[in-house]
Amino acid sequence: MRRNNETATSPRPGLSLAWDEGRVLAVDQRVLPHEHRVLRLETVDQLVDAITSLAVRGAPAIGLAGALGVALSAHRHTSDGRTDEASVKADAARLSAARPTAVNLAWAVHRAVGRLADGPQAVLAEAMAMLEEDATANRTAVVRAADLVQSLAPDWPVRLLTHCNTGRLATAAVGTALGAIIELHERGRVAEVLVDETRPLLQGARLTAWELGEAGVPYRLCVDSAAAAAMARGMVDCVLVGADRIAANGDVANKIGTYGLAVAAARHGIPFVIVAPESSWDRELADGSGIVVEERDSSEVTEFAGVEAAPAGAAVFNPAFDVTPAELITAIVSEAQVFRPHGSHSTSYPGEVSA
Ligand code: MRU
Repeated sequence: MRRNNETATSPRPGLSLAWDEGRVLAVDQRVLPHEHRVLRLETVDQLVDAITSLAVRGAPAIGLAGALGVALSAHRHTSDGRTDEASVKADAARLSAARPTAVNLAWAVHRAVGRLADGPQAVLAEAMAMLEEDATANRTAVVRAADLVQSLAPDWPVRLLTHCNTGRLATAAVGTALGAIIELHERGRVAEVLVDETRPLLQGARLTAWELGEAGVPYRLCVDSAAAAAMARGMVDCVLVGADRIAANGDVANKIGTYGLAVAAARHGIPFVIVAPESSWDRELADGSGIVVEERDSSEVTEFAGVEAAPAGAAVFNPAFDVTPAELITAIVSEAQVFRPHGSHSTSYPGEVSA
């Protein structure tokens, strides 16, 4: 049965977000892959709920949803050609605060608010421009990242490992790390992708596996704690993941478990590559120590598929993200650069930067 903010009207195939006559359409990532439901979000409250509940998730996607939310608010708060800017700014503050770790959210909301003085159509045009820019940035970054992986792991076909979901669902289109994996597959270079299930919300098992299947990329799912063992067995040539916030020195916040993967990859001499748009950089932070890591509800850990798994009242530590120190990262690839935090590899690319 449909709730009042659900609709069968979909964003264009391949897109996770769209604007439709004063509403935001969003693919509901909570119910994939077994149900394809599109939310029709008509209020800022509904958008904030979609972001906090991870119906819309992934750093670029929540930023774009936030920008569309400002457009939605601007339309709702305009009458007789006058926009109630104070109300829109209050909505923008709520959208910005919906999730704290991904810098893309506050960045995109701030950018949309910057057009408020020009009226709701200007805010919407800015949000739509951001959607286009994200798709274009990802197209550039995934080609650059695929080139880099080919140089780091020259014996192909390669065995890759990824964590969480960094595909088209998490972005305007194409994806970041997952986009690079699909690009490598299209070049005939991928033997297999190991997909971490990504506890506790299973973005890997539910979303990445689904996107890889749709793209025809061979993959196997593994529990997160199998990743280090796979590396030890020589089953992984390169790890590719995304980012939620990148500090000026190259420390990277990403889905919980990323840091452990980077430690294991370093132990086994496996390249560890981040793919993320420039909008994920927060150069005001000197390093990752200032990144706010979202802590989520204990029920995500104590319950399994809605069934209590832990003793009643069990205390929980449930950070949604961790911070990987730059020294463990081989390269951070964006649409503008290949940043090598410690310059340990000699291959040079256009736009390459070393710390
Ligand atoms: O909590 P989530 O699912 O929003 O976390 C997402 C991630 O950690 C992704 O790796 C990151 O946002 C990059 S998405 C291109």
